[in-house]
Amino acid sequence: MNPLYMILVFLFGYCVYPFKPFIIFSNRHEIRRIDLHKGEFSVLVPGLRNTIALDFHLSQSALYWTDVVEDKIYPLTSFDVVIQYGLATPEGLAVDWIAGNIYWVESNLDQIEVAKLDGTMRTTLLAGEVEHPRAIALDPRDGILFWTDWDASMPRIEAASMSGQGRKTIHKETGNGGWPNGLTVDYLERRILWIDARSDAIYSAKYDGSGLIEVLRGHEYLSHPFAVTMYGGEVYWTDWRTNTLAKANKWTGSSRIKILTEITHVPSVCPSAPNPCAAKDGKDPCSHLCLINYNQTFSCSCPHLMKLGPDRRTCYESRQFLLYARQIEIRGVDIDNPYYNYIISFTVPDIDNVTVVDYDAQEHRIYWSDVRTQTIKRAFINGTGVETVVSADLPNAHGLAVDWVSRNLFWTSYDSNKKQINVARLDGSFKNAVIQGLDKPHCLVLHPILGYGHSPKRGITETL
Ligand SMILES: *[C@@H]1O[C@H](CO)[C@@H](O)[C@H](O)[C@H]1NC(C)=O
Ligand SMILES: *[C@@H]1O[C@H](CO)[C@@H](O)[C@H](O)[C@H]1NC(C)=O
Ligand SMILES: *[C@@H]1O[C@H](CO)[C@@H](O)[C@H](O)[C@H]1NC(C)=O
Repeated sequence: MNPLYMILVFLFGYCVYPFKPFIIFSNRHEIRRIDLHKGEFSVLVPGLRNTIALDFHLSQSALYWTDVVEDKIYPLTSFDVVIQYGLATPEGLAVDWIAGNIYWVESNLDQIEVAKLDGTMRTTLLAGEVEHPRAIALDPRDGILFWTDWDASMPRIEAASMSGQGRKTIHKETGNGGWPNGLTVDYLERRILWIDARSDAIYSAKYDGSGLIEVLRGHEYLSHPFAVTMYGGEVYWTDWRTNTLAKANKWTGSSRIKILTEITHVPSVCPSAPNPCAAKDGKDPCSHLCLINYNQTFSCSCPHLMKLGPDRRTCYESRQFLLYARQIEIRGVDIDNPYYNYIISFTVPDIDNVTVVDYDAQEHRIYWSDVRTQTIKRAFINGTGVETVVSADLPNAHGLAVDWVSRNLFWTSYDSNKKQINVARLDGSFKNAVIQGLDKPHCLVLHPILGYGHSPKRGITETL
């Protein structure tokens, strides 16, 4: 079963105001709130298509959620879209309320990304040897980040600093475990708590993985747990099979109560800590993105298409990256570090079955042809401005090349009638055949400088 569809309810509830404790959760179609004092339900956001991850930011009272159908991360307060482009399958989400960053898991792209809370400065934090990342949680006081990985050969929980350093596996699933699903932090005890959807159990361990406790296993309201959160002395979880929200003592699993029938209140506060990323003498420590590291230190990081300079503080623009396409995605990776996406990844719904990709450095645009939709599309490498430039009458378009000198686009196509090389302006206008009567034209390359210099004809090359 695709883990994505096992999700019925995702729950969020830590780090709430001490005076108005509530739990916010989603049943995929609505975001609801339960007031823990009064036991009242309210619908915060109705009519969602497929929400699965929620997180809450205290100082701005903002709730973020990701929508896996529309591939967007939204803040609740204003309904502005925070991050809209190139989200393949954003799942887990965690907010660093001290430095003001948002972290999330891209389960399709197998990486962990980070951006500022407003969605800017987005970059890849961790990639490579990330197989099926799932849930994410953090403690900004200690600058530590935890995530679960459903890697079939070694399901595990890993930790790294919130700037991506000092990565280590802190827990390996053995025995019955295998689907570490929800993950949360017990700020009071400095422990992590997670549920395992295969063994249907709740576990707790210290930040370094030691002191493992099985809190609860094999309970009727724990037949297919999905999400978990902490509040005071209790652990709350949602169960997909029984469609319940239940709670238990965080150490012993005792006093199991369905939250919908009885609610008890234990105050809890969002822990505060000095912000290592705070401006000093009116100066930000980093030119772009500042991430909390271990031991109250910070590390600077750069958004896509930028690299960190030798001072480790300032980012500079660099457009050297390797662009490649696989069936449903186009990626641009760092040449020195090929696991790291250097641009946002283009994927569904803009991409169906991409066969070839090319780049126009002048306008910072990529062009690709898609054999299933029979279109040629383009977009800026920052992910914006996706548009179709050529559509229809484009069978088997396997060859595509941008002539960056004359600003034209060439592509091959063939079916039983027409077997040819075509040309159009970069925006798709003035579409025309340049060479007809071929057999099965497949690939295509250009040498615009030579071609253009030798025999320009109607502004296009004929030495094809
Ligand atoms: C944090 O600081 C402590 C004490 O100075 C040191 O022992 C520890 O190694 C440091 N941790 C990291 C990850 O640098
Ligand atoms: C994608 O296109 C290739 C031909 O270029 C074809 O062999 C493959 O089956 C297509 N895949 C899908 C899922 O349509
Ligand atoms: C994306 O890039 C294009 C072209 O470089 C630029 O015009 C546009 O403002 C950029 N958009 C964002 C959101 O960065």
